[in-house]
Amino acid sequence: MAVSPALLLLIVYCSFVVDVSGYNFSLAEATVAELQQALKQNTLTSRQLVEYYLSQILEINPRIRGIIEVNPDVLILADEADMERMSGAANASSALHGIPILLKDNIATMDKLNTTAGSFALLGSVVSRDSGVAAKLRAAGAIILGKAALSEWAYYRSSTAPNGWTGRGGQALNPYVMSADPCGSSTGSAISVASNMVAVALGTETDGSIICPSSANSVVGIKPTLGLTSRAGVVPISPRQDTVGPICRTVSDAAYVLDAIVGYDPNDNATIAASKFIPPGGYIQFLNANGLQGKRLGIVRNPFFVFPNGSYQTQAFENHFQTLSENGAILVDNLVLANISMINSGESETIALATEFKIALASYLSELTVSPIRTLADAISFNLNYSTLEMIPQWGQDIFLQSENTTGTGSPAYQAALANMLSLTENGIVMLMTQNNLDALITPDSTVTSVLAIGGFPGISVPAGYGPDGTPFGICFSGLQGYEPRLIEIAYGFEQATNIRKPPTFLV
Ligand SMILES: *[C@@H]1O[C@H](CO)[C@@H](O)[C@H](O)[C@H]1NC(C)=O
Ligand SMILES: *[C@@H]1O[C@H](CO)[C@@H](O)[C@H](O)[C@H]1NC(C)=O
Ligand SMILES: *[C@@H]1O[C@H](CO)[C@@H](O)[C@H](O)[C@H]1NC(C)=O
Ligand SMILES: *[C@@H]1O[C@H](CO)[C@@H](O)[C@H](O)[C@H]1NC(C)=O
Ligand SMILES: *[C@@H]1O[C@H](CO)[C@@H](O)[C@H](O)[C@H]1NC(C)=O
Ligand SMILES: *[C@@H]1O[C@H](CO)[C@@H](O)[C@H](O)[C@H]1NC(C)=O
Ligand SMILES: *[C@@H]1O[C@H](CO)[C@@H](O)[C@H](O)[C@H]1NC(C)=O
Ligand SMILES: *[C@@H]1O[C@H](CO)[C@@H](O)[C@H](O)[C@H]1NC(C)=O
Repeated sequence: MAVSPALLLLIVYCSFVVDVSGYNFSLAEATVAELQQALKQNTLTSRQLVEYYLSQILEINPRIRGIIEVNPDVLILADEADMERMSGAANASSALHGIPILLKDNIATMDKLNTTAGSFALLGSVVSRDSGVAAKLRAAGAIILGKAALSEWAYYRSSTAPNGWTGRGGQALNPYVMSADPCGSSTGSAISVASNMVAVALGTETDGSIICPSSANSVVGIKPTLGLTSRAGVVPISPRQDTVGPICRTVSDAAYVLDAIVGYDPNDNATIAASKFIPPGGYIQFLNANGLQGKRLGIVRNPFFVFPNGSYQTQAFENHFQTLSENGAILVDNLVLANISMINSGESETIALATEFKIALASYLSELTVSPIRTLADAISFNLNYSTLEMIPQWGQDIFLQSENTTGTGSPAYQAALANMLSLTENGIVMLMTQNNLDALITPDSTVTSVLAIGGFPGISVPAGYGPDGTPFGICFSGLQGYEPRLIEIAYGFEQATNIRKPPTFLV
């Protein structure tokens, strides 16, 4: 992590002068609503909050490596937010005003922070503008705290590298059980909010990269409908599947962040069609404690709830089904999702992503004003040239090589893959949900993410329990495009009824 010596001194100094013991809520676990209330009541300033997070980062980050870079201007931004609030500026009334947020390192910011997807190949690259979501966060008055670790290139370089590993950041760890898989690729976003280095973060998902680390680290992640949030200025994998979404400790915090980042962006045309899904008045109105009442929830037992015999998850999910139904949900059990094994084989998805990545990456790189690389071929060459610095050789770059080999969107294999995914989606989740009039599907952990990925559909992961050794697991509520309002109601209802999340204890 790059913390300058001057910043470090400042942080050490501040950790002595900031007394956070007087607050009647835990600053470590404080929600956006609690923080905003304390800011409005002048019992907390953004500077104090940032100083608190910086002290947390100094203490915790060396152990789990969730953050690659801290914004050198973060205290200046905090002071600006405090001044805006004190002077009663109209824009200070936003729910995220003065609240620090961490961005996955593939989400561009035009400031002193680098945007590298964790790779040395993009270190020193200069973006021509903020990403669409960073611009929206700044307009809402949020403070960009830094860049989060990830699986390098959002796990689109090497199929043998571990989750949470990057050349720049090293190996990010799960703060619950440090030997457990932290999952990815939004690893740093999940582990940093889980361990209270910041309250809220953004991740990205192409297939599972928000839902999986959220589940593995006992936090809440929202993978939005494709195009609900802008992907402009995000190091891409596929414009057909990429999404940007919140990773937070509570459903409420995730809804506040979602409110701030959704909407039209002229630099991402997918935001035009998806704008119709944004509810007037935003998402926090769906934080409804009775949110489960009358909701029809589908359960596809095979393959999703087939656990090894004696698995702790079997009983845990039976208990959750009972809780959901006691709180008014209607469970529609023993459903069949057509062709699910074909979807999970990933055959078509793999062909499509390989073709799209090469093109999308070149397009992202072409907008950089300075860059060590301009094409996927350059990135491959960089990795070979700097193999001792950049990678542990056995991890290789097989996904890169596979993508470089593709011949464009005109290829028959690509066109067939697209048609197949469309058919799998229409015959699968769309038919299942419409025929049974479902509000959501329930699935464990990240098992449903390929279904959501190929359809551009949303899902929310909520903490669902801990295994015998303390490893977290999650429950995912997912649906069709634009189902975010009811998914938030369901997720919030489940969270309030179960209240499962507890802070990590860094078990070794
Ligand atoms: C702290 O306590 C005061 C007085 O009891 C109350 O008005 C305020 O809402 C509390 N703040 C938080 C964040 O709970
Ligand atoms: C960004 O990368 C440059 C090296 O190119 C480094 O000097 C600088 O400290 C990095 N910025 C931050 C905020 O870490
Ligand atoms: C908020 O408004 C103030 C004064 O009108 C302006 O200087 C500042 O840049 C605005 N902040 C944001 C985050 O838009
Ligand atoms: C969006 O669509 C318009 C109209 O087709 C086109 O002119 C523009 O270049 C597109 N913008 C982007 C960022 O793709
Ligand atoms: C699990 O238990 C069931 C019922 O006792 C048995 O039929 C099945 O073969 C077992 N499966 C495995 C994988 O051991
Ligand atoms: C890799 O090294 C070769 C030979 O020195 C050089 O031509 C090429 O530009 C390098 N590629 C990158 C991306 O650094
Ligand atoms: C790339 O294509 C060539 C020629 O079709 C093939 O021999 C090679 O195995 C392919 N490499 C990868 C990584 O797919
Ligand atoms: C999927 O399942 C449906 C119904 O079971 C079937 O008609 C269809 O051909 C299958 N394959 C694809 C690619 O959709």
